[in-house]
Amino acid sequence: MEVFPGNLSLLTLLLLTPGIACRAGSVADAAPGNGTRPNIVFVLADDLGFHDVGYHGSRIRTPVLDQLSADGVRLENYYVQPICSPTRSQLMSGRYQIHDGIQHSVFWDDQATGLPLGSPTLADKLRESGYSTHMVGKWHLGFHTEEYMPNSRGFDSSFGFLGGHEGQYYHTRAYKKKKYLDLRADGVPVRDQEGRHSTDMYTDQGVRRILDHDVTKPLFLYMAYSVPHSPHQVPAVYEEQYSDIADKNRRTVAGMITHLDEAVGNLTQALKDKGIWDNTILVFSTDNGGPIGDACINYPLRGGKWTLWEGGVRGVAFVTGGKNIVLDRGAVNRELMHVTDWFPTLVGVAGGDFNGTKPLDGVDQWDSLSTGASTTRKWVLHNIDSKNKKKGKKLFPDTFDTRIRAAIRVGKYKLITGNPGWGKWVPPPETNSSIVEIKESKKNLWLFNIDKDPEERRDLSAKKPKVVKRILKLLQKVNSKALPPFFPPHNPLANPKLHGGVWGPWQ
Ligand SMILES: *[C@@H]1O[C@H](CO)[C@@H](O)[C@H](O)[C@H]1NC(C)=O
Ligand SMILES: *[C@@H]1O[C@H](CO)[C@@H](O)[C@H](O)[C@H]1NC(C)=O
Ligand SMILES: *[C@@H]1O[C@H](CO)[C@@H](O)[C@H](O)[C@H]1NC(C)=O
Ligand SMILES: *[C@@H]1O[C@H](CO)[C@@H](O)[C@H](O)[C@H]1NC(C)=O
Repeated sequence: MEVFPGNLSLLTLLLLTPGIACRAGSVADAAPGNGTRPNIVFVLADDLGFHDVGYHGSRIRTPVLDQLSADGVRLENYYVQPICSPTRSQLMSGRYQIHDGIQHSVFWDDQATGLPLGSPTLADKLRESGYSTHMVGKWHLGFHTEEYMPNSRGFDSSFGFLGGHEGQYYHTRAYKKKKYLDLRADGVPVRDQEGRHSTDMYTDQGVRRILDHDVTKPLFLYMAYSVPHSPHQVPAVYEEQYSDIADKNRRTVAGMITHLDEAVGNLTQALKDKGIWDNTILVFSTDNGGPIGDACINYPLRGGKWTLWEGGVRGVAFVTGGKNIVLDRGAVNRELMHVTDWFPTLVGVAGGDFNGTKPLDGVDQWDSLSTGASTTRKWVLHNIDSKNKKKGKKLFPDTFDTRIRAAIRVGKYKLITGNPGWGKWVPPPETNSSIVEIKESKKNLWLFNIDKDPEERRDLSAKKPKVVKRILKLLQKVNSKALPPFFPPHNPLANPKLHGGVWGPWQ
């Protein structure tokens, strides 16, 4: 008989729902360093594929990321959401999308929506526990009213853009084919950075935040870069390093990633120059897998951005830090971890509490990161999107509707239902290998043993009906706590033409 990992019954699994396991840390028992609360620098890359770092065997050079991760802990069973806003919302809230009704798509510029206001953000909690909090780069968590903007969500300062992408040099994004500026410092439009590449500009801002930091307080710096997301643009000096890559788009992306790598090196150097590196935790994570067909590569994983295949959700990430930070250094951590976990983990090491938060779905992973201990996380909900177009036939009358787009990981197993999106295997163009796709036009149920088969090549759903039934039952139970998806209409009032020609609050 098939059992869940560790012989856990379904009931036990439900009782072990992440969130219940959060600890309310105190300064004394939570500080990982020498009793001083650590500085926290969180670097988020945009659309970086699983194959796109040197230490995953990429042709792209990332010497800084390779070294920092080798000195820290590489996370090799780590999950994000398949698209931008959901990963960012779960990072900031510690909560699954279904619990906030934001499980469908991203926040589009002209929708009156965003990360719900009812629960404090990671930045709110760190600020409450005495941190200076700064954000630089991409927000994408809503901006139709001031209350949704970064400075209202726990950040003492912000410099960056509000939407999902921007021109790397001109910091604009189109509305009805006309381009408008999307760049603000503490809410005020910034008009003097035209022609400056975003990676250079944001790194400068980050370095400045570090060097100007008042060291009587701990620092939280959130660096959300807009690369290697499209549009693919990079200073020639980075692209020229890859003149042997024939595919133009891939060559540019390679340059963008090496540029980002240098940026992380500069941030680290600034922390050292300031004398605060020893007591700093640095997290690096992608927001989702690389988009299929757009030069960011997840190979050998299947699928990519927007999909529930591993290529969409299995992310590149590591945690490292200076010498006072106690970490399981040099380890490759294969414990199940999810982007919602950063909230309790980082609030925990900051000595904060969870007062005022709605129930969290993340679990505190600090023990696992610092000592290599097993995680308490048993499962990850990748998503249930009941608003996505249903696919195929309902296979069982009495449990979760397999026509609905959903995926859940339970121990070694992953179950997918509905239409998970494009399930291609796309190798790096520079290898000249061909793209492989299996035609599964009517299929709406898959079961994989991800430990053995991370490439999702062997569907076990027919072979293991009992496992399928049990996981569907869990999915049904999890789904019963979902809020209906909130996905308001596109509103022409968002047109920046009506708001001084700059993207910003419109309601
Ligand atoms: C802890 O580390 C910080 C940062 O390196 C240092 O300034 C402080 O003196 C240390 N405190 C103790 C008690 O060792
Ligand atoms: C990193 O710092 C070097 C030296 O100051 C500078 O030339 C380079 O442009 C910086 N790179 C980025 C991405 O900020
Ligand atoms: C939680 O926060 C509320 C509002 O800020 C405050 O009134 C309350 O005392 C706090 N409770 C604890 C246990 O810190
Ligand atoms: C890929 O194809 C290009 C163009 O045909 C060729 O120049 C290059 O050597 C090939 N690369 C590999 C790794 O086979």
